[in-house]
Parts: sequence; C-alpha cells; structure tokens
Amino acid sequence: METTMTMTMASLKPKPMRPKSPYLPHSLNSRRIFKSLSLPKPSVGAPTLVDQFDPTIPIERAVTPPSSWYTDPSFYAQELDSVFYRGWQAVGYTEQIKNPGDFFTGRLGNVEFVVCRDEHGKLQAFHNVCRHHASILAYGSGRKSCFVCPYHAWTYGLDGALLKATRITGIQNFNKHEFGLTPVKVATWGPFVLANMEPEVDSDVEIVESEWLGSSSDVLSTNGVDTSLSYVCRREYTIECNWKVFCDNYLDGGYHVPYAHKGLASGLNLDGYSTTVYEKVSIQKCEGGSTERKNDYDRLGSKALYAFIYPNFMINRYGPWMDTNLVIPLGPRKCQVIFDYFLEASVKDDRDYIERSLKESEKVQMEDVMLCEGVQRGLESPAYNIGRYAPTVENAMHHFHCLLHESIRK
Ligand code: FES
Repeated sequence: METTMTMTMASLKPKPMRPKSPYLPHSLNSRRIFKSLSLPKPSVGAPTLVDQFDPTIPIERAVTPPSSWYTDPSFYAQELDSVFYRGWQAVGYTEQIKNPGDFFTGRLGNVEFVVCRDEHGKLQAFHNVCRHHASILAYGSGRKSCFVCPYHAWTYGLDGALLKATRITGIQNFNKHEFGLTPVKVATWGPFVLANMEPEVDSDVEIVESEWLGSSSDVLSTNGVDTSLSYVCRREYTIECNWKVFCDNYLDGGYHVPYAHKGLASGLNLDGYSTTVYEKVSIQKCEGGSTERKNDYDRLGSKALYAFIYPNFMINRYGPWMDTNLVIPLGPRKCQVIFDYFLEASVKDDRDYIERSLKESEKVQMEDVMLCEGVQRGLESPAYNIGRYAPTVENAMHHFHCLLHESIRK
C-alpha cells in the first residue's frame, strides 16, 4: 500500500471579518466585536476540547478525538468559525451557472449565499441578504435578469448593484451605490464552483488551486475529474449526525465496506485499496474490480478513485461515473449530504443503466445513513469517549482529524 504524507499546509491570511457564529449572543455578533472577541478561551490549566486530540502522536498509538468534538455546541461553533468560514469551499458545479442569468443559492453555517453568472458572463457571488431589512433575497436556483426582494421589492442587478429601492421618497443620507449586495469571493476548478467567505482573499485561479487541492490537483485532473462529464441529477440526504461522522465513515479506507456494504464489496477488489495523503486532500484508490459482472452490467468499472477534499467535499470517480458528496453542517448533530451525479457521454442516454446505477448507489447511501446515525447515538452515550485507529487503513481519517486540530488551533 502506498502512503505518502505531505503536511505543508496552505497558509491563509488572518482576515478581519468573519461571519457570525450562531452560538454567540446576538449582541456580540457584530463584526467589530467578533474581530476582537474570538471564541471562548478555557480557564488556565483546563485542556481545550481541541487539545483533547494530540496530532503529534503517531496513528499506531493515537486515540481518536473525544466524542465532545461531535456533540458539543461550542466546538461546533468553533468549527464554523475556523474551518468553514475560512478557505475555499465547494458550493456547486459550473453547469449550474452555465448561462448569463443562471443562479443557485446555498447556506453554510449562518452564511446565506447566491452564486450567479451576470449578463457579461462573469461569475459573481453575494451574501443572499437584502440590504433593506435582511430578507433572504433569492431561493433555490434558476435564471433571472435581476434579483427582486420578495419583501419590499428592492431590486439588485446580477453584479450586486442596487438598481431600485421602492418607496424611499424623503429618505436622507442614502446613497444607493453603498447599498449593493455584499460580495463573496468565488472561483472555479474543473467542474466545481468554490466560494470563500473571507472578504480579502485572492481568487487568482492558480492560488485557488494551490490552496484547495495542493499537490493533488494533477492526480485529480489526470484521473478523469474534468468538465467533460454530463450532469445527471442530485440526491440530498439529511442525516442525524455530526458532519464529521459522515466524513469519518468515508475516510476509513474501505474498512467498513465488506461488513456494511456487501453489495458494493462484491464489485470492488478491496485487496487493491490504497490511500495517499496530500496537504488537504486524501485519495483512496481501489484497483482491479471484480471480474464478476451481472448481465454485462457494470457500474463501478475496474478502478475507483475516492478523493476527500478538506473539510467536507468528496469526489468519487468509478467506471463511467463521477459523483460528488458535499457535507453541509446543520448543527452539532445534524448534517445534509448533497450527492451530484455526472456521467461520461457514451452512456448518458442509457436510461436503464442510469436508473439501475442510481438505485444501487441509493442503497449504499441508505446503509451509510444508518451507520452514521448509529455512530452519533453511540458518541452521545456516556459509555464512549475516545476510540482507536486501525493504522493500516484509517490514515486518511487520522489526517482529517489532524487538519481539524490545526484549523481550530490557528
Ligand atoms: S427586506 Fe428586502 S426590500 Fe425590504
């Protein structure tokens, strides 16, 4: 098994404004106070939750992070602040904003955002909050020539400029040029759209690639993660577990597959499993799939690549398929996982094949949902605090926990 460990982290500049933490009192949630407040520090001598995991201990002797990482509201707030409101985050795919006027909306923590392509073809992203009285401006996805607030009809261009403020006769000291939508940094890599909640980051394409993928970008782009695939569909799952439980499940190096996904295991050669760890990415590969094919039907192909991009994005490339999993935290014990499916052109019109593949994939997802919800309940039990790693297979999970520790420690 090939395992490399390159721990050069892309350094992110400290930024003055971060989104509001939902767990801070409302009065403390101003931009000015947030900057200086930071999150609660422990009393001297008490180990912080984050330091209850020691990333310097080798995996063979390490214990896993304590269950409080998966249950504690203050730790969850720290994660939003230190993990999700910093750095580049996958938020969608380029086909969603292919044409001028196309848009989609999303939410990460308490950040509501809208991504769109303006009439000049430029990719734009904004906080999806009306500057009048804070209504959410756009919902879902689709195509628009402007954003009209559903509350009092203030209207914004696709470049974020305030075009019309209704019934403001008599208003003083008001400059509509100062009331455009608040921008969010946006970029693309391959078929993916990325956003960064920090206001002053550089969105130069090479910098984004380096910060998001590091030295794994070549491996991904030469293993079929590209824009040539056709978009098929989306499936969403709301799971009663901390977002990291789903990530951990993904990162166990195929450990659970023969026991919990017997159907999937029959199509994979788990002896050919390898994990390679990059700066913020880990790639699991499974080569030499089963030669047993049911009626010439083959969803998985002879090799599969499973890439985890810290903190919450997964790219799965197998056979003619690519699916992506975006794990969105919804609270300390709840997350949503969005699956987007893409397919090679040669089979994109084969409805039977597509339906059969999606049904098989759904079965695996439902098995994982059950596993993850079971783990969350166990994590909340007084009987459990820490566990151990299986060193030969769970190194990507250990790497994930080390990255979390580093993010929160920063
Ligand atoms: S809140 Fe948007 S127009 Fe009033």
